[in-house]
Amino acid sequence: MLHQFETIIVGSGGSGLYAALEASQRSQTAVLSKLFPVRSHTGAAQGGISAALGNVEEDKPEWHAFDTVKGGDYLVDQQAAKILAEEAVQAVYDLENRGLPFNRTPEGRIDQRRFGGHTRNFGEAPVRRACYAADRTGHMILQTLYQQCIKNNVSFYDEFQVLDLIMAENRCKGVVAVELATGELHVFAAKAVLFATGGFGRIFKITSNAHANTGDGPAICARRGIPLEDMEFFQFHPTGIKGLGILISEAVRGEGGILRNRDGKRFMEHYSPTLLDLAPRDIVARSILTEIRAGQGIRGDRKIDDYVHLDATHLGKDILGAKLPDITSFCQTYLGLDPADSAIPVLPTAHYAMGGIPTDIDGRVIRDGKGTIVEGLYAAGECACVSVHGANRLGTNSLLDLVVFGRRAGRHIGEYVKEVEVPAVSEDVTDTAAGWIKQLTDGQSGPHGGHIMEEMQTTMMANVGIYRNEKDMQAAVGQIQNLLDRYQQVRVQDSGSAFNTDLLELIELRNLLDLSLLTAAAALNRQESRGAHSREDFPDRDDDNWLKHSLAYLNGDTVRIEYKKVDTSIWEPKPRTY
Ligand code: FUM
Repeated sequence: MLHQFETIIVGSGGSGLYAALEASQRSQTAVLSKLFPVRSHTGAAQGGISAALGNVEEDKPEWHAFDTVKGGDYLVDQQAAKILAEEAVQAVYDLENRGLPFNRTPEGRIDQRRFGGHTRNFGEAPVRRACYAADRTGHMILQTLYQQCIKNNVSFYDEFQVLDLIMAENRCKGVVAVELATGELHVFAAKAVLFATGGFGRIFKITSNAHANTGDGPAICARRGIPLEDMEFFQFHPTGIKGLGILISEAVRGEGGILRNRDGKRFMEHYSPTLLDLAPRDIVARSILTEIRAGQGIRGDRKIDDYVHLDATHLGKDILGAKLPDITSFCQTYLGLDPADSAIPVLPTAHYAMGGIPTDIDGRVIRDGKGTIVEGLYAAGECACVSVHGANRLGTNSLLDLVVFGRRAGRHIGEYVKEVEVPAVSEDVTDTAAGWIKQLTDGQSGPHGGHIMEEMQTTMMANVGIYRNEKDMQAAVGQIQNLLDRYQQVRVQDSGSAFNTDLLELIELRNLLDLSLLTAAAALNRQESRGAHSREDFPDRDDDNWLKHSLAYLNGDTVRIEYKKVDTSIWEPKPRTY
């Protein structure tokens, strides 16, 4: 079936909905989502959205931008970080005006709490910069934006899985998607397409990411010859529930929670004397592993089960109930404990991709190190790389990124579509997608995709995790190549066409395999330690050779890396201390 729109947004999280809201005021806009929109993973973002409002203590966008650059270990493009911090203030007030129920100070202003790496006066001490709605900030953003999109007559195609981009030369002409309810292929021709498909934490075994976070947009771009930027930088959030990876918000530490080792000692005093438990995530995650490796973890049933405690008992039931109600109920549901009475057993969990589809500050996709724009193609949110997070994102900058750059992309699209016609598309545009589905459903028997998924997640977790080295990453690259080869034999077990989740999972598996390969290959290539990329065999940051973005091009089961300059036009890179 053929549909024609001026603007197609793929993905209905915060960036997709904000872009849709803006674009819909200037163009006929549709959102495709493989989920029901408010089930998008933005809804799982807990602790807050940063903006230097200065509501509870002095703060400035300039300090915010600096923290973002330093937190990202100077791989951040600095003018983009400046835009992020400056536009944050209006973005938060816009959300408030659109109905978002933020927590309030006694005077009625938006309340703010501390979060990791956010400081006053260029690193002096933690600052209260995160605006929040209890520990449901992402959920509230999603609900607010969805309602606004409905009000603005955005068309929604729920439960449509994107399969391919329609490209002609250097111009994007739309997308091909499968309708999950029927199995039917649909062609969406459009003047502009924006990918806002979210992250791909499902490449790892233990992750805070939803099952739907399979990197569909970046994988499709990669297969269409668009490089992915800085794929080696994947953030592990320090505090996932031990063994499950479910997120325990940094807001717990923002409200005063303390990480403790087996002796009950506040071990972050040793690793980050100034910011303590609120150091940036890469530092806290490494500190937890270092404690455990030194035998200072709390002993689980087997050695691999060692963990540390996140102690929030001193916050008391009232604060926990008012400011961290979801965390309290997660602990009750998944651990059978009340955080007011007992410390929470935690371990780092794969959380956020700093890398993704390269874009400029208006969300336009870039296809090389020279900045060549792909006409009509945009990306925003976690699937994109602007790059405002560099080698390590600060907590609460993700929701901000969605809102600021989703909005900018939507506005740019609104202007761009005035200049072009809805493109004509030929009948063969579905050939690639149809061929893929035909292969998976041709009636032959083949290995179960679930085994390949499990091996992929296990090898990525073990070999491309927090600490990395050449031998392990080489093993990971080899194993993922082997899994890609085995994927060719995989077939669906369910041959039905209505809501064939078996087929959907195999499509997602292919996306995850491609992204695993790109991540492992880019990590193997970068011979230094920077931010979340921590190499045991190259323990130092090496600005002379590696102060550059990587651009990883996928070619079947191999990866070619090129580079792009980092914008360091405001602050000279310095060693990071906290
Ligand atoms: O810890 C958290 O609430 C997560 C926030 C984020 O990733 O920005």
